[in-house]
Amino acid sequence: MDRKELIALLKKYGQEHLLFYYDNLSEEQKNKFVKQIEKIDWKLVNIAREGRKEEKRGCFEPIKGMGLEQIETNKDKFSEVGLEMIKAGKIGAVLLAGGQGTRLGCEGPKGIVNVGITKDLYIFELLFMNIMEVTKKAGTWIPFYIMTSEKNHDVTVTFLKEHHFFGYPEEYVTFFIQEMAVSVDFEGRILMEGPDQLSLSPNGNGGWFSSMMKAGLLEDLRRRGIEWLNIFAVDNVLQRIADPVFIGATIYSDCDSGAKVVRKTNPNERVGVLCLEDGKPSIIEYYEMTDEMNHRKNSDGRLSYCFGVTLNYLFRVDKIENISNTSMPIHVVEKRIPYLTKDGQYIVPENLNGYKFEELALDMIHFLDSCLPFEVVREREFAPIKNATGVDSLESARELLKKNGVEL
Ligand code: UTP
Repeated sequence: MDRKELIALLKKYGQEHLLFYYDNLSEEQKNKFVKQIEKIDWKLVNIAREGRKEEKRGCFEPIKGMGLEQIETNKDKFSEVGLEMIKAGKIGAVLLAGGQGTRLGCEGPKGIVNVGITKDLYIFELLFMNIMEVTKKAGTWIPFYIMTSEKNHDVTVTFLKEHHFFGYPEEYVTFFIQEMAVSVDFEGRILMEGPDQLSLSPNGNGGWFSSMMKAGLLEDLRRRGIEWLNIFAVDNVLQRIADPVFIGATIYSDCDSGAKVVRKTNPNERVGVLCLEDGKPSIIEYYEMTDEMNHRKNSDGRLSYCFGVTLNYLFRVDKIENISNTSMPIHVVEKRIPYLTKDGQYIVPENLNGYKFEELALDMIHFLDSCLPFEVVREREFAPIKNATGVDSLESARELLKKNGVEL
């Protein structure tokens, strides 16, 4: 793209301010800058400029799930099915580790955070320890895919190599890098991080499958004969990965997907809830729930909308392949975004100053015909590290790890 074309394109989308530093850039910088412009998804910029349209939601109903009692009764049967699938090489694990951990305020990837007190114990280490309990039982390794972003890829790879993947064989670990999206101010103007650098951030965890496909990993899944993928967040240090009971229960229930859920502790708990929307599985955010939904109870006195999601899902690969061309909803999120001013100052704002665009893995559920809500014991499987202090923090996760007998 030459200068004239560049100007015309930016003018078309009301982004001429991006040219402010252009003429003073070296040829190399100009090329780098143009490459970023060429990759912009203008649909996102238009969303921000035209204002957010309310997402029209369908008709919600509670979903039937598999509760703790039912799981306990059938545990051996489910576990057997799950272990068979793992032994047959039909299960893969996908770690979503492309996030920026802004709430926690960590420098670099969240997985390298040390939760140990008297010894080193990293988040990545805990995740590998979890899955290795299963691989030991199954007597085989599970292909382990790790999604990173351009922002944290190198540090993640270097860290894991230095720590020899905490005992996991490197040939079973595959990295792939997720896409980036531009960040804009409240008027929809793209922000800059440097004279030749747009403000870019990872585009949410929802792009995990399309990023896997772009990285050529669909071939890899086929070659290995992987039929199910367990995707999970980096920050829940207690979760069970490739849990044979969960796999067995989902397959036994003949569902296209499964979600590990915790029962809501009170009607107003701030957690996304798995339910039915127009007869299909769907996740409703806590702020979208009406008072009536929050307080609705079954005849046994328990909450009807009770299944809080934990970002640990099982997906049938053929089913998600079928929906891979479907465009996912875009979530426009207000954030504090550092930026470069026209007079060359780099500002780290104290208040929210713009939007980032994200696709979310949870939205995939609604494109599938069925999803099994699989209940887990909160104190045993849910210890997310999201915030610097208080709820879902390093401190609260440490307490839960200790209660579960993990030496810190
Ligand atoms: P969160 O929604 O908690 O986002 O991610 P985050 O970026 O880690 O943290 P905040 O919101 O900035 O504080 C849930 C999971 O999804 C992954 C995260 O790494 C985490 O495992 N994720 C998030 C991605 O892989 N890519 C993204 O673009 C965003």
